[in-house]
Amino acid sequence: MNYRHVFHAGNFADLAKHAILTHILRALTARAVPLTVIDTHAGAGLYDLQGDEARRTGEAGVDTLMDAVDAPAAFDDLKAAVRRVNARGGRRYYPGSPLLIAQALRPRDRYLACELRPDDHAALKGVLPREAGAQVLRDDGWRIAAERAPAAPAGLLLFIDPPFERPDDPAQALAVAAQTLRRNPAAVIVIWLPIKDLTGFDDFVGRAQDVAGRRTVLVAEARLRPLSDPMSMNGCALVVINPPPGLEAFSRAVVEWVARTLGGAGGQGRTVIFGGGV
Ligand SMILES: C[S@@+](CC[C@H](N)C(=O)[O-])C[C@H]1O[C@@H](n2cnc3c(N)ncnc32)[C@H](O)[C@@H]1O
Repeated sequence: MNYRHVFHAGNFADLAKHAILTHILRALTARAVPLTVIDTHAGAGLYDLQGDEARRTGEAGVDTLMDAVDAPAAFDDLKAAVRRVNARGGRRYYPGSPLLIAQALRPRDRYLACELRPDDHAALKGVLPREAGAQVLRDDGWRIAAERAPAAPAGLLLFIDPPFERPDDPAQALAVAAQTLRRNPAAVIVIWLPIKDLTGFDDFVGRAQDVAGRRTVLVAEARLRPLSDPMSMNGCALVVINPPPGLEAFSRAVVEWVARTLGGAGGQGRTVIFGGGV
């Protein structure tokens, strides 16, 4: 496990992923039913953008967003979260999915955050508010999702954000999604993935549609450049099974801005819906 998210925190992929996550959290916490969120790959929760690691990669993203005058309202919740972790001003810190989730949940909701790396797990334990019904587990997210996803009719958001450093990560994501849907057919499942080449990406989306069956699948893509070099990460996507209402328009605003602002020539933001609009 070499991947450390601090090298990439607040980059284009985080902005797309986290803005879309804020919409999903708002929609699901507006429902009467209590919500359980399982974050299979939680990371450290809060990232120091002035630390050595983040500065070494220096990936553009959150600074551009915070300075932009043309960022759509779809980024408002994420921008507010960034301001909250920088209460003394400045842009030093960037919040990960655990803080965004914990801050959105109501007292009756539950949050299981899984992180295997000892250092990131320890950091996450220090970052998450204890009163938020959050459990921080130093455990395998695939196993926790398989064992602890609540059955229907419980409200469930399964957030799958692996490092994709293992060749079986895509298959694991789809297997856990399939298993979760058998137990809780209305679960909202979000899978983040890198986009390298079209063949691999299309294959994953096709298999996600097979897993989803008759359910709606939304695919949000932020491509920074044409997919001509399959060895580099040319963009990223979120595959959302059972997307909540309003996500299609929200996602379009997010990925189009990300691709236009942070991408190069041939960059493109696309949102595609399979099996009915939302
Ligand atoms: C992309 S990062 C997560 C970023 C985080 N979801 C966010 O949006 O802020 C992936 C994390 O998964 C952790 N990890 C890798 N394999 C894991 C596993 N099987 N179970 C739990 N965590 C794992 C890595 O240590 C890394 O911190």
